[in-house]
Amino acid sequence: MKPKTALPNVTTLEEADTNQFAQDIIQGLSGNPKTLSSKYFYDGTGSRLFQQIMDLPEYYLTRTETEIFTRQQEAITKAFCAPGSFDLVDLGSGDAAKTKILLRALVNQAVDFTYVPIDISLDAVQELQLSLADELPGLKVAPLTGDYFEALQQLQTQSTNRKVLLFLGSNIGNFSYPEIRNFLKNLRQYFVAGDQLLIGFDLKKDPRVIRSAYDDQAGITAEFNFNLLRRINQTFNGNFNLNHFKHFAEYNPVSGEMKSFLVSTHNQEVTLHDLDFNFKLSAWEAIHTESSFKFSESQIKELAQEANLQTEYVYTDSQEYFADVLFRVS
Ligand SMILES: C[S@@+](CC[C@H](N)C(=O)[O-])C[C@H]1O[C@@H](n2cnc3c(N)ncnc32)[C@H](O)[C@@H]1O
Repeated sequence: MKPKTALPNVTTLEEADTNQFAQDIIQGLSGNPKTLSSKYFYDGTGSRLFQQIMDLPEYYLTRTETEIFTRQQEAITKAFCAPGSFDLVDLGSGDAAKTKILLRALVNQAVDFTYVPIDISLDAVQELQLSLADELPGLKVAPLTGDYFEALQQLQTQSTNRKVLLFLGSNIGNFSYPEIRNFLKNLRQYFVAGDQLLIGFDLKKDPRVIRSAYDDQAGITAEFNFNLLRRINQTFNGNFNLNHFKHFAEYNPVSGEMKSFLVSTHNQEVTLHDLDFNFKLSAWEAIHTESSFKFSESQIKELAQEANLQTEYVYTDSQEYFADVLFRVS
């Protein structure tokens, strides 16, 4: 289990998260097909592996969103500003490498705001807090660790500021369409009219470009996938043998769904001793570990309409691989 030490003003919800982790694992591995939620990829090692993924030549997502923020930072940050202070809430902040482009622009314009990074990974939040203290010492930061909605609920008790919420890096694509509808509906209870939402959507494109972003030559994405089993072994005293699994990724251009799996190469039995949980995998049975949906502009419009969100701006990169869409709550 991860240590419970936190920087003094990092609020940790970690114990509840570990119980939820256990429940989700048992449920996912008892099902047919077997699943593990992608939100558990990000322990310390997972967060560091994801940073390596973001530098891979195949992983266009970070490059393209970075291009959008670098080239259009002035327009984007101006669109956030209105009289009075606001909270810039970064859902799933990770290392916030891209958010920092916007943070620097806001700080340079002397805008009055508080940055609220939210992440389920305590390690990621702590590292981010240290790097912000170093790189942007004047920035007001109020980090929260935990699941998106637990953290948003906590934020509501702490601040009544106007909110500008960031959901970057195609994080929204990890949800299915019904989950996205539900997510946007749930988000609305934390918003009032005038609040804004900037969401990063990975757009539909050449299927081969998409597939190689999730199955890179260097095998870092495979390592990232295997790390989920390593994390389960460490957290719950399990005996997953990582050598008995293969990483496999496929893209379906009809549904726009990119799926990643861990495929069992043997008949095997796995025990998670701390949970008193034991299950069997047949040879070539797959555990579905991640879905990442890709969107067309019309699908984005439809989702916004259903959620009663008004589209203010669509920012895209030069290849039109990615779109950051700014919505206003009406
Ligand atoms: C793909 S990374 C994106 C990081 C960053 N926003 C970016 O665009 O580069 C996803 C981040 O979301 C966090 N995350 C995933 N599921 C979460 C959840 N349910 N609640 C809170 N954080 C979550 C992960 O820990 C991870 O740091």
